[in-house]
Amino acid sequence: MIPPTKNRKLIDWVDEVARLTTPDKVEWCDGTSEENDRLSQLLVDAGTFTRLSDAARPGSFWARSDPSDVARVEDRTFVCPKDRADAGPTNNWMDPTAMRDKLRGLFEGAMRGRTMYVVPFSMGPIGSPIAHTGVQLTDSAYVAVSMRIMTRMGQPVLDALDAIGPEADFVPCLHSVGAPLLPGQADSPWPCNPDEKYIVHFPETREIISFGSGYGGNALLGKKCFALRIASVMARDDGWLAEHMLILKLTSPDGEVRYITGAFPSACGKTNLAMLVPTLPGWKVETIGDDICWMKLGADGELRAINPEAGFFGVAPGTNALTNPNAMLTMRKNAIFTNTALTDDGDVWWESMTEQPPAHLTSWLGESWTPASDGPAAHPNARFTVPASQGPSMAPEWEDPAGVPISAILFGGRRSSVVPLVTESFNWRHGVFLGSIMSSETTAAATGAVGKLRRDPFAMLPFCGYNMADYFAHWLAVGKAANPERLPKIFYVNWFRKDPQGRWLWPGYGENSRVLQWIFERVSGRGSAVRTPIGLTAPASEVNIDGLDVSDADMEMLLTVDDDEWRKEVPLIREHFSIFADRIPAELLSELGDLETSLGLEHG
Ligand code: OXD
Ligand code: MN
Repeated sequence: MIPPTKNRKLIDWVDEVARLTTPDKVEWCDGTSEENDRLSQLLVDAGTFTRLSDAARPGSFWARSDPSDVARVEDRTFVCPKDRADAGPTNNWMDPTAMRDKLRGLFEGAMRGRTMYVVPFSMGPIGSPIAHTGVQLTDSAYVAVSMRIMTRMGQPVLDALDAIGPEADFVPCLHSVGAPLLPGQADSPWPCNPDEKYIVHFPETREIISFGSGYGGNALLGKKCFALRIASVMARDDGWLAEHMLILKLTSPDGEVRYITGAFPSACGKTNLAMLVPTLPGWKVETIGDDICWMKLGADGELRAINPEAGFFGVAPGTNALTNPNAMLTMRKNAIFTNTALTDDGDVWWESMTEQPPAHLTSWLGESWTPASDGPAAHPNARFTVPASQGPSMAPEWEDPAGVPISAILFGGRRSSVVPLVTESFNWRHGVFLGSIMSSETTAAATGAVGKLRRDPFAMLPFCGYNMADYFAHWLAVGKAANPERLPKIFYVNWFRKDPQGRWLWPGYGENSRVLQWIFERVSGRGSAVRTPIGLTAPASEVNIDGLDVSDADMEMLLTVDDDEWRKEVPLIREHFSIFADRIPAELLSELGDLETSLGLEHG
């Protein structure tokens, strides 16, 4: 086939990879709906996809992964600059030459018996000055059709690249499920490599190579690998920010608009917050993005944000008509559901989708399931993959190539104690400090223990493509480069605080609009706040709890900064900073010193 591009580097790379991996054929994806229908049918024939009933969800499919391939594999994820110190202490590292040798061995013949799909994609609107192009080579049709939802994918991307010229640059993303087929060997519905998994980033050459997994962020390389790990490096070099953040538009009853971003670790409710339906009368939330945010300085020194993605890859369990009605409406058609359960009438189900589970299901393991069965019907990290454009909550400007101006940045995590419902930072530098000490109880989005407390600075621990201490310094530098009058205010929120008996204190979901209202007032120069050692908290009287069943005592508990608890937290923060040794910016140490002073502690 004649390659549908003039891009020399791309044509040569496709040839070179095909020679190494020896697929049966190479197919360039054009992104059309005809192609999507054909690949989806291939996946149905292979047993990867089950077509959902047209009555329930037109154009939608149910997929079950291999039970060993259900989440991001952080322990198999590598960042490989030449110098180990540039990857920093929070990334797995291997010498890039040794890693390339290792990968070359793994990729040799890896696509035998399969088709290699060439998947051109744009992160951000095609041709926009803030968008960046990638091309993924993959031997998974599931990945190709998922990339069509999650990114702008297909021939228009190649046309835009060619319009720049034959030398136009792109990020090469190589992916194989690592399961070559011998002649006549039957394929499995979810091919992957149970023994070897490598998710590898070469920041200096801006390349991604992923082997062995077909799941989510391990395999849809535009998302975590490109839009976060590699883009964070591009952003460091070019003075912008690539962040693990939702972006929402908040409109007050008076019609005033503020745009807010929020960094929360995986599976901590970013999608729910981005699509929130306020319980406060007259307020409106619309969605710009639910997971990734690229922020650049605009002409007036303001931070402008775009969502580089085109779809949602959201956690299904816990999503329902009460917690996120907009997500439920978004996924009524053209969706892929992975590792949910299947109902007997050809629809999907997951834990808490409805109050009563159906009497019978096929579980994510493909087994007959009833409410009496052991274990959940859906995997806790089951996902929906769906085009953002069909979401009722999307703001009309969600694809504006100029981005939206940001007024507030939220940091948050799951903390059952210590961290109050909402705190405003004293200033940008202090806000960066709060981001750098973020911590959260782990979730099922990554393999490993669930519910363990870990530091997850800026919710970027698994996604920062370089030394995180340098990343903190970059945040400080962006604050200095921005217009001080237009700098967003930074807030630390925690919807997950519990009382000593383990009861949630805050109802969350739509009720979070009450916290957003206080934030709105603060960024508009109104509202009062109480100074505490860790920032400015909302006085209980300023959080509107009209019509809400939360007692005054619970509000006190939610907003309390307990000095004793924070005194215990300080050594943990010191320990966290100590892993970065002398690379940690002096400004952050000085913030920590100020915190110690205000808690009456000796400097550590
Ligand atoms: C995601 C994640 O899939 O953070 O967005 O794991
Ligand atoms: Mn995420």
